[in-house]
Amino acid sequence: MSIVAVLNTKGGVGKTTTALNLAVGRALQGRNVLAVDADRQGSLLAALSNRGEREPCIAVAQYVEGQALRQQVLRAAALYDDIVIDAGGRDNTALRAALLLADKVIIPFLPRSFDIWSLDDMSALLVEARAIKHVDAYALLTMSDARGTDNEAAGQAVPDDMQLLPTTVGRRKAFADAGGAGLSVLELPAHRDSKAMAETQALLAAIFN
Ligand SMILES: Nc1ncnc2c1ncn2[C@@H]1O[C@H](COP(=O)(O)OP(=O)(O)OP(=O)(O)O)[C@@H](O)[C@H]1O
Ligand SMILES: [Mg+2]
Repeated sequence: MSIVAVLNTKGGVGKTTTALNLAVGRALQGRNVLAVDADRQGSLLAALSNRGEREPCIAVAQYVEGQALRQQVLRAAALYDDIVIDAGGRDNTALRAALLLADKVIIPFLPRSFDIWSLDDMSALLVEARAIKHVDAYALLTMSDARGTDNEAAGQAVPDDMQLLPTTVGRRKAFADAGGAGLSVLELPAHRDSKAMAETQALLAAIFN
């Protein structure tokens, strides 16, 4: 049983897309997965609802208040192999509750100054959470550039209290297209974007192995 939370106080960094690919990716591996949308916007809930009858089936629930999130996830922990939580892009009770529930926190960020600075906000929240319990935190470079030196510079700016994941996720249309339909890029036709698929497999391995 593992609880993974995809968190960042910054919006639009690929949290929901990452959570979706992790939840579906684990279900494709045969795991019984609960996806939890902790964002009022409800994007993960809406995306997964678009799957309709498609297998694998991913259970999804939305809890936007910290206390309800905590109670419900603790209850669900006995029923699922993996729980993936997607929180909104702001510091609120749900984000703080998710931080305390998670075995692993994934912090997506873009290779851009404002996004890199937002990692310091997450650092501060991690310090508070770690006063209460152990939390593994991993920074994930998302929507990374195909070329240039920004990716490397961004990696070097990651604060000490989180580990930079060895895998990155590139800016690829396949992620956006698949996400809207509630699909992982792993479910797209094989010819569609093999790099997006390889990145997603590598991410799953890095987090869960
Ligand atoms: N790797 C990617 N390549 C291209 N587009 C992406 C990628 N990841 C996410 N996107 C797109 O970028 C936008 C923001 O992504 P997403 O909704 O996952 O971010 P978020 O952090 O959950 O945002 P919010 O803070 O609003 O919840 C979406 O339109 C999504 O489809
Ligand atoms: Mg989101």
